[in-house]
Amino acid sequence: MKILAIETSCDDTGIAILSAPDGPHQAGEDNFVVLANVIASQIKVHQKYGGVYPAMAKREHQKNLVPTFVKALSESKLLKNLSVNFAAAKNMDIAKILEREPELYKKLVSFLKKYGKPDVDLIAVTNGPGLEPCLWVGVNFAKALSYAWGIPVVPVNHIEGHILVNFLQTTNYKLQTKFFPAISLVVSGGHTQIILVKGVGKYKVLGETRDDAAGECFDKCAKILGLGYPGGPIIAKLALQLPTTHYQLPTKLPRPMMHTKDYDFSFSGLKTAVLYADRKVVNKTKKYKTAMAIEIQQAIIDVLIKKTMKAVKDYNAKTLILGGGVSANQELRKQFADKLQWPKGHPNYKLSLLVPPANLSTDNGLMIAIAGFYHKKNTKDWQKINANGNLRISE
Ligand code: KG4
Ligand code: ZN
Repeated sequence: MKILAIETSCDDTGIAILSAPDGPHQAGEDNFVVLANVIASQIKVHQKYGGVYPAMAKREHQKNLVPTFVKALSESKLLKNLSVNFAAAKNMDIAKILEREPELYKKLVSFLKKYGKPDVDLIAVTNGPGLEPCLWVGVNFAKALSYAWGIPVVPVNHIEGHILVNFLQTTNYKLQTKFFPAISLVVSGGHTQIILVKGVGKYKVLGETRDDAAGECFDKCAKILGLGYPGGPIIAKLALQLPTTHYQLPTKLPRPMMHTKDYDFSFSGLKTAVLYADRKVVNKTKKYKTAMAIEIQQAIIDVLIKKTMKAVKDYNAKTLILGGGVSANQELRKQFADKLQWPKGHPNYKLSLLVPPANLSTDNGLMIAIAGFYHKKNTKDWQKINANGNLRISE
């Protein structure tokens, strides 16, 4: 089967097309084949404001969806010229579905007049959590395509996408059961959650941030230091350049909630500590900024690792699954991998680590296609699909 996936929960417009096994798995049968995974990034638009503005992001999604979709179809060799005329009556209904996205409506109708129904069996779309105006653009786009071409739609939870994208790498998608129970750390610009994964679709949020997400903390700290946006990759890159001579920071940064007995996080105090520390420094040299970048990154890593490994131990997990933009951080990956070097005989000796490649850690359509595959039976009447900015992942 071929799955078309749509992701617009934040500032990346993602369209993927995935070829996935149809029915009961046959020995030797191919697993997932990625036909296309196209992303239109809005970083340049949001850079000058140092953050994502939902109304601006919504406009960019409207502009980017159809061109991104055409690129994905053409890469997958699924772009078909129209053989019969596009019915005017359908045009009216599509105008209704996209009444809040007029720019997208215009682009979609001219696309539908030019190209025919592609060989796609299922549409998967992110319906939450995320920025609600952005989510709606993707959801309404999915509805319009489902209506125009009669293709069923499955709504997908974005967080579940970050978890399940890890199963793209496993050689046999059916071997999933050997991975559970797993502990997943989903850590991005909008979320920081520790989730117990009992199986595909069986989740329990054990803990989460009480204020800022870890990625948001990276972004805000980078802004304080005048480093640019998005802060995570910039701080990570700077942190690689160890200062040639030791630079003494005025104070060590705090590791908030590191030793509490729960699985929760708090990052807003860390950002405030960076702000106060930065005020004390008169000469903000490159060496100072590098030393700060190293310390900020390490403070975030320390709490993430401490709480996640506590959950791994408490729940006797077989697998640790990382996901979300911050999991692209090389130092975080390295320090998690080091933690997993258990000596033989240690009760956690067999714990395995699943981490997506960096381009699949950040938001993308493919993660939604894979989650859509595992929930292919949960299709919904397109008229009943809604976006929900606060959608929770649960059983
Ligand atoms: O998952 P994602 O693409 O979007 C959300 O769902 O939020 O994550 C984006 C976040 C941003 O805060 C960005 O600064 C952070 O992930 N990020 C990183 C790195 N790459 C992206 N944080 C730390 N190190 C990185 N290498
Ligand atoms: Zn995300």
